[in-house]
Amino acid sequence: MTVIKRVIRRHTVVIVAALLGISGSAAAEQFDRGQALYENHCQACHEDWAHKREQARAVGSLDALRARVSGWSVHSGLDWSAEEIDDVTSYLNRRFYKLTK
Ligand code: HEC
Repeated sequence: MTVIKRVIRRHTVVIVAALLGISGSAAAEQFDRGQALYENHCQACHEDWAHKREQARAVGSLDALRARVSGWSVHSGLDWSAEEIDDVTSYLNRRFYKLTK
């Protein structure tokens, strides 16, 4: 739930910035942080396959996805903050899982 709210909030920032005629680049950069973190730290091991295993998929809810991301952050020695974990969870959900709760 909080992930969805966060996504909506970030979109709002981009929209407001555009309306004000401010360059959206700062907001857009912030919005893509989950993707950047994932691509830098996680993608080498598993790009698409891990998130597309229809039968064996270990993730059935946003909480479960977040728990996985959090776990991998520890396994990989990254110790991501709650915000970074939210960003990557949100990115993976947008790109692969499309979970609503
Ligand atoms: C050392 C290699 C390796 C690294 C680094 C790694 N992963 Fe994984 N990941 C795997 C393997 C192998 C699986 C599948 C086995 C499993 O489910 O535990 C997996 C599974 C997952 C799943 C569950 C997929 C599903 O839908 O069942 C998620 C989510 C995930 N990884 C996220 C991440 C994130 C986020 C990072 C970066 C912090 C990361 N992984 C880094 C190897 C890796």
